[in-house]
Amino acid sequence: MRLFSPAKVNLLLAVTGKRTDGYHDLLSLVSPITFGDFVTVTVDDATGDPVLSCTNPEVPSGDENLVIQAAKAFLAATGLAKGLTIHLEKHIPTEAGLGGGSSNAATTLMILNRVFSEPLSIEDLTDLATELGSDCPLFLHREPVLMRGRGEQIERLDPTIVAGLLGRRLAVFKPSIGVSTPWAYGRLASQEKSYADREKTETRVLAWKQGELALEELMFNSLEDPVFEKFVALPALFESIQENLGLQCLMSGSGSSCFALMGESDRGEGLKTMVREAWGDEAIYFECQLGMTDA
Ligand code: C5P
Repeated sequence: MRLFSPAKVNLLLAVTGKRTDGYHDLLSLVSPITFGDFVTVTVDDATGDPVLSCTNPEVPSGDENLVIQAAKAFLAATGLAKGLTIHLEKHIPTEAGLGGGSSNAATTLMILNRVFSEPLSIEDLTDLATELGSDCPLFLHREPVLMRGRGEQIERLDPTIVAGLLGRRLAVFKPSIGVSTPWAYGRLASQEKSYADREKTETRVLAWKQGELALEELMFNSLEDPVFEKFVALPALFESIQENLGLQCLMSGSGSSCFALMGESDRGEGLKTMVREAWGDEAIYFECQLGMTDA
Protein backbone atom coordinates (compact mmCIF):
# COMPACT_ATOMS: atom_id res chain seq x y z
CA MET A 1 0.00 0.00 0.00
CA ARG A 2 1.25 3.47 -0.93
CA LEU A 3 0.13 6.59 0.92
CA PHE A 4 0.99 10.28 0.73
CA SER A 5 2.97 11.48 3.75
CA PRO A 6 2.40 15.24 3.98
CA ALA A 7 4.62 17.92 5.44
CA LYS A 8 3.01 20.34 7.95
CA VAL A 9 3.17 23.98 8.86
CA ASN A 10 2.47 25.45 12.29
CA LEU A 11 0.09 28.38 11.76
CA LEU A 12 0.36 29.02 15.50
CA LEU A 13 3.06 27.62 17.80
CA ALA A 14 2.76 29.01 21.31
CA VAL A 15 5.23 27.39 23.71
CA THR A 16 3.68 28.03 27.11
CA GLY A 17 6.18 26.55 29.58
CA LYS A 18 8.71 23.88 30.46
CA ARG A 19 7.48 20.57 31.84
CA THR A 20 9.04 18.33 34.45
CA ASP A 21 9.73 15.66 31.80
CA GLY A 22 12.06 18.04 29.91
CA TYR A 23 9.60 18.75 27.10
CA HIS A 24 7.59 21.93 26.66
CA ASP A 25 3.85 22.50 26.78
CA LEU A 26 2.49 24.02 23.65
CA LEU A 27 -0.67 25.18 21.95
CA SER A 28 -0.38 24.87 18.21
CA LEU A 29 -2.62 25.14 15.17
CA VAL A 30 -1.05 22.87 12.61
CA SER A 31 -2.04 21.82 9.12
CA PRO A 32 -0.80 19.27 6.62
CA ILE A 33 0.21 20.74 3.27
CA THR A 34 -0.09 19.36 -0.26
CA PHE A 35 3.66 18.80 -0.42
CA GLY A 36 5.23 15.67 0.98
CA ASP A 37 6.71 12.22 0.67
CA PHE A 38 5.20 8.86 -0.25
CA VAL A 39 5.47 5.73 1.90
CA THR A 40 4.97 2.28 0.35
CA VAL A 41 4.73 -0.84 2.50
CA THR A 42 4.88 -4.40 1.14
CA VAL A 43 4.05 -7.31 3.43
CA ASP A 44 5.45 -10.83 3.13
CA ASP A 45 5.92 -13.84 5.38
CA ALA A 46 9.67 -13.37 5.74
CA THR A 47 11.03 -13.25 9.25
CA GLY A 48 13.44 -10.60 10.40
CA ASP A 49 13.38 -6.86 10.91
CA PRO A 50 11.53 -4.45 8.62
CA VAL A 51 13.68 -3.26 5.71
CA LEU A 52 13.69 0.37 4.55
CA SER A 53 14.89 1.92 1.29
CA CYS A 54 14.78 5.60 0.41
CA THR A 55 15.17 7.73 -2.72
CA ASN A 56 17.52 10.01 -0.75
CA PRO A 57 20.71 8.12 0.16
CA GLU A 58 21.43 10.61 2.97
CA VAL A 59 18.38 9.43 4.91
CA PRO A 60 19.39 6.72 7.43
CA SER A 61 17.66 3.39 6.81
CA GLY A 62 18.37 1.69 10.13
CA ASP A 63 16.84 1.84 13.60
CA GLU A 64 17.46 5.57 13.84
CA ASN A 65 14.80 6.14 11.16
CA LEU A 66 11.37 6.80 12.70
CA VAL A 67 9.75 4.66 9.96
CA ILE A 68 11.60 1.57 11.20
CA GLN A 69 10.78 2.48 14.81
CA ALA A 70 7.10 2.88 13.86
CA ALA A 71 6.99 -0.47 12.03
CA LYS A 72 8.63 -2.29 14.95
CA ALA A 73 6.33 -0.60 17.47
CA PHE A 74 3.28 -1.63 15.43
CA LEU A 75 4.40 -5.28 15.17
CA ALA A 76 5.17 -5.38 18.91
CA ALA A 77 1.80 -3.82 19.85
CA THR A 78 -0.20 -6.19 17.64
CA GLY A 79 1.90 -9.33 18.09
CA LEU A 80 1.99 -9.77 14.29
CA ALA A 81 5.03 -11.62 12.89
CA LYS A 82 5.30 -10.35 9.31
CA GLY A 83 8.08 -9.29 6.99
CA LEU A 84 7.83 -5.63 5.98
CA THR A 85 9.60 -3.91 3.10
CA ILE A 86 9.15 -0.15 3.20
CA HIS A 87 10.06 2.40 0.54
CA LEU A 88 10.25 6.11 1.19
CA GLU A 89 9.99 8.58 -1.69
CA LYS A 90 11.55 11.59 0.01
CA HIS A 91 10.91 15.23 -0.83
CA ILE A 92 10.53 16.91 2.59
CA PRO A 93 13.85 18.45 3.72
CA THR A 94 15.24 17.59 7.16
CA GLU A 95 15.80 20.06 10.04
CA ALA A 96 13.14 22.13 8.35
CA GLY A 97 10.28 22.36 10.88
CA LEU A 98 8.03 20.60 8.37
CA GLY A 99 7.64 17.36 10.36
CA GLY A 100 8.98 15.04 7.66
CA GLY A 101 10.23 12.18 9.86
CA SER A 102 7.15 12.35 12.11
CA SER A 103 4.83 12.30 9.09
CA ASN A 104 6.62 9.29 7.61
CA ALA A 105 6.30 7.41 10.93
CA ALA A 106 2.59 8.26 11.37
CA THR A 107 1.88 7.32 7.75
CA THR A 108 3.64 3.97 8.27
CA LEU A 109 1.42 3.30 11.31
CA MET A 110 -1.69 4.20 9.30
CA ILE A 111 -0.73 1.98 6.36
CA LEU A 112 -0.01 -0.98 8.63
CA ASN A 113 -3.27 -0.53 10.52
CA ARG A 114 -5.19 -0.46 7.21
CA VAL A 115 -3.32 -3.42 5.68
CA PHE A 116 -3.97 -5.58 8.75
CA SER A 117 -7.68 -4.59 9.01
CA GLU A 118 -7.38 -2.03 11.82
CA PRO A 119 -6.22 -4.03 14.85
CA LEU A 120 -5.41 -0.75 16.68
CA SER A 121 -7.78 2.07 17.67
CA ILE A 122 -6.95 5.75 17.07
CA GLU A 123 -6.11 5.96 20.80
CA ASP A 124 -3.64 3.03 20.49
CA LEU A 125 -2.09 4.62 17.41
CA THR A 126 -1.81 7.97 19.20
CA ASP A 127 0.03 6.30 22.10
CA LEU A 128 2.49 4.64 19.70
CA ALA A 129 2.92 7.89 17.75
CA THR A 130 3.57 9.92 20.93
CA GLU A 131 6.41 7.55 21.86
CA LEU A 132 7.97 8.17 18.44
CA GLY A 133 7.89 11.99 18.59
CA SER A 134 5.85 14.97 19.72
CA ASP A 135 4.84 15.89 16.15
CA CYS A 136 3.81 12.36 15.22
CA PRO A 137 0.18 12.19 16.55
CA LEU A 138 -1.02 15.18 14.52
CA PHE A 139 -0.25 13.33 11.28
CA LEU A 140 -2.72 10.56 12.17
CA HIS A 141 -5.49 13.07 11.43
CA ARG A 142 -4.54 14.28 7.95
CA GLU A 143 -6.37 17.60 8.40
CA PRO A 144 -5.73 20.84 10.35
CA VAL A 145 -5.88 20.25 14.14
CA LEU A 146 -5.03 21.94 17.43
CA MET A 147 -2.22 20.36 19.46
CA ARG A 148 -1.72 20.67 23.21
CA GLY A 149 0.47 19.05 25.87
CA ARG A 150 3.79 18.18 24.26
CA GLY A 151 1.84 17.48 21.05
CA GLU A 152 -0.09 14.34 21.99
CA GLN A 153 -3.41 16.01 22.86
CA ILE A 154 -5.16 16.56 19.56
CA GLU A 155 -8.35 18.59 19.21
CA ARG A 156 -10.17 18.16 15.93
CA LEU A 157 -11.71 21.32 14.53
CA ASP A 158 -15.27 21.98 13.47
CA PRO A 159 -15.75 20.86 9.81
CA THR A 160 -16.61 24.42 8.73
CA ILE A 161 -13.34 25.71 10.21
CA VAL A 162 -11.41 22.89 8.50
CA ALA A 163 -13.14 23.71 5.21
CA GLY A 164 -12.10 27.36 5.58
CA LEU A 165 -8.44 26.36 5.92
CA LEU A 166 -8.21 23.67 3.26
CA GLY A 167 -7.07 24.95 -0.11
CA ARG A 168 -5.49 28.16 1.21
CA ARG A 169 -2.40 28.85 -0.87
CA LEU A 170 1.00 29.31 0.67
CA ALA A 171 4.62 29.60 -0.36
CA VAL A 172 7.20 27.72 1.70
CA PHE A 173 10.85 28.77 1.63
CA LYS A 174 13.87 27.43 3.46
CA PRO A 175 17.50 28.56 3.57
CA SER A 176 20.20 25.93 3.06
CA ILE A 177 20.96 25.84 6.80
CA GLY A 178 18.79 23.66 9.05
CA VAL A 179 17.81 24.22 12.70
CA SER A 180 17.97 21.49 15.35
CA THR A 181 14.71 21.26 17.32
CA PRO A 182 16.31 20.53 20.75
CA TRP A 183 18.66 23.50 20.17
CA ALA A 184 15.75 25.88 19.44
CA TYR A 185 13.75 24.75 22.49
CA GLY A 186 16.89 24.91 24.66
CA ARG A 187 17.59 28.47 23.57
CA LEU A 188 13.99 29.47 24.23
CA ALA A 189 14.16 27.93 27.72
CA SER A 190 17.30 29.95 28.53
CA GLN A 191 15.62 33.26 27.71
CA GLU A 192 13.75 35.17 30.37
CA LYS A 193 10.05 35.86 29.78
CA SER A 194 10.21 33.72 26.67
CA TYR A 195 7.03 31.68 27.10
CA ALA A 196 3.65 32.59 25.68
CA ASP A 197 0.79 33.13 28.14
CA ARG A 198 -1.40 30.01 28.00
CA GLU A 199 -4.70 31.66 28.93
CA LYS A 200 -4.25 34.58 26.56
CA THR A 201 -3.37 32.22 23.73
CA GLU A 202 -6.40 30.03 24.47
CA THR A 203 -8.57 33.17 24.36
CA ARG A 204 -7.13 34.12 20.97
CA VAL A 205 -7.69 30.60 19.60
CA LEU A 206 -11.29 30.73 20.80
CA ALA A 207 -11.78 34.13 19.12
CA TRP A 208 -10.34 32.70 15.90
CA LYS A 209 -12.66 29.67 16.09
CA GLN A 210 -15.61 32.02 16.54
CA GLY A 211 -14.61 34.04 13.50
CA GLU A 212 -13.65 37.12 15.54
CA LEU A 213 -9.93 36.92 14.76
CA ALA A 214 -8.41 36.42 11.31
CA LEU A 215 -5.96 33.58 10.77
CA GLU A 216 -3.26 36.15 9.94
CA GLU A 217 -3.81 37.75 13.35
CA LEU A 218 -3.52 34.40 15.12
CA MET A 219 -0.27 33.50 13.38
CA PHE A 220 2.64 33.45 15.85
CA ASN A 221 5.63 31.24 16.66
CA SER A 222 7.41 31.32 20.05
CA LEU A 223 10.52 29.76 18.51
CA GLU A 224 11.09 32.67 16.11
CA ASP A 225 12.82 34.83 18.75
CA PRO A 226 15.50 32.30 19.73
CA VAL A 227 16.08 31.19 16.13
CA PHE A 228 16.05 34.71 14.61
CA GLU A 229 18.71 35.93 17.07
CA LYS A 230 21.16 33.50 15.55
CA PHE A 231 19.89 33.28 11.98
CA VAL A 232 19.39 36.97 11.19
CA ALA A 233 18.83 36.29 7.49
CA LEU A 234 15.32 35.05 8.36
CA PRO A 235 13.87 38.21 9.97
CA ALA A 236 15.71 40.37 7.41
CA LEU A 237 13.90 38.61 4.55
CA PHE A 238 10.57 38.68 6.43
CA GLU A 239 10.83 42.46 6.71
CA SER A 240 11.56 43.03 3.05
CA ILE A 241 8.79 40.62 1.96
CA GLN A 242 6.33 42.49 4.19
CA GLU A 243 7.53 45.85 2.88
CA ASN A 244 7.68 44.99 -0.82
CA LEU A 245 4.89 42.45 -1.24
CA GLY A 246 2.71 43.06 1.82
CA LEU A 247 2.83 39.36 2.69
CA GLN A 248 3.05 38.20 6.29
CA CYS A 249 5.62 35.45 6.91
CA LEU A 250 6.00 32.95 9.73
CA MET A 251 8.59 30.32 10.61
CA SER A 252 7.21 26.77 10.83
CA GLY A 253 8.03 24.72 13.95
CA SER A 254 11.64 25.18 14.97
CA GLY A 255 12.59 26.27 11.42
CA SER A 256 14.38 26.81 9.29
CA SER A 257 11.39 26.66 6.90
CA CYS A 258 9.23 29.75 6.66
CA PHE A 259 6.00 30.37 4.83
CA ALA A 260 3.72 33.13 3.62
CA LEU A 261 -0.02 32.76 3.15
CA MET A 262 -0.98 34.05 -0.29
CA GLY A 263 -4.24 35.59 -1.39
CA GLU A 264 -6.19 34.46 -4.47
CA SER A 265 -4.54 37.07 -6.67
CA ASP A 266 -1.00 36.89 -5.25
CA ARG A 267 1.58 35.63 -7.71
CA GLY A 268 4.58 33.81 -6.31
CA GLU A 269 7.20 34.99 -8.81
CA GLY A 270 8.11 38.14 -6.87
CA LEU A 271 8.42 36.20 -3.64
CA LYS A 272 10.51 33.48 -5.27
CA THR A 273 12.87 36.09 -6.71
CA MET A 274 13.26 37.77 -3.32
CA VAL A 275 14.01 34.42 -1.62
CA ARG A 276 16.61 33.50 -4.26
CA GLU A 277 18.26 36.94 -4.11
CA ALA A 278 18.45 36.88 -0.30
CA TRP A 279 19.30 33.22 0.35
CA GLY A 280 20.87 32.03 -2.91
CA ASP A 281 20.00 29.31 -5.38
CA GLU A 282 20.38 26.53 -2.83
CA ALA A 283 17.36 27.87 -0.91
CA ILE A 284 14.21 25.74 -1.26
CA TYR A 285 11.06 27.44 -2.59
CA PHE A 286 7.74 25.84 -3.43
CA GLU A 287 4.07 26.75 -3.52
CA CYS A 288 1.33 24.49 -2.20
CA GLN A 289 -1.96 24.52 -0.29
CA LEU A 290 -3.14 23.67 3.21
CA GLY A 291 -4.57 20.16 3.05
CA MET A 292 -3.76 16.83 1.52
CA THR A 293 -3.28 15.56 -2.02
CA ASP A 294 -5.19 12.34 -1.24
CA ALA A 295 -7.26 10.78 1.56
O1 C5P B 1 9.43 14.73 20.54
P1 C5P B 1 10.62 14.98 19.69
O2 C5P B 1 11.63 13.87 19.79
O3 C5P B 1 10.30 15.32 18.28
O4 C5P B 1 11.30 16.29 20.27
C1 C5P B 1 12.60 16.68 19.91
C2 C5P B 1 13.10 17.68 20.93
O5 C5P B 1 12.38 18.89 20.84
C3 C5P B 1 12.94 17.25 22.39
O6 C5P B 1 14.04 16.49 22.80
C4 C5P B 1 12.88 18.59 23.10
O7 C5P B 1 14.17 19.14 23.23
C5 C5P B 1 12.13 19.46 22.12
N1 C5P B 1 10.68 19.51 22.36
C6 C5P B 1 10.18 20.09 23.52
N2 C5P B 1 8.83 20.14 23.73
C7 C5P B 1 7.97 19.66 22.81
C8 C5P B 1 8.44 19.07 21.63
C9 C5P B 1 9.81 19.00 21.43
O8 C5P B 1 10.94 20.57 24.35
N3 C5P B 1 6.65 19.76 23.04
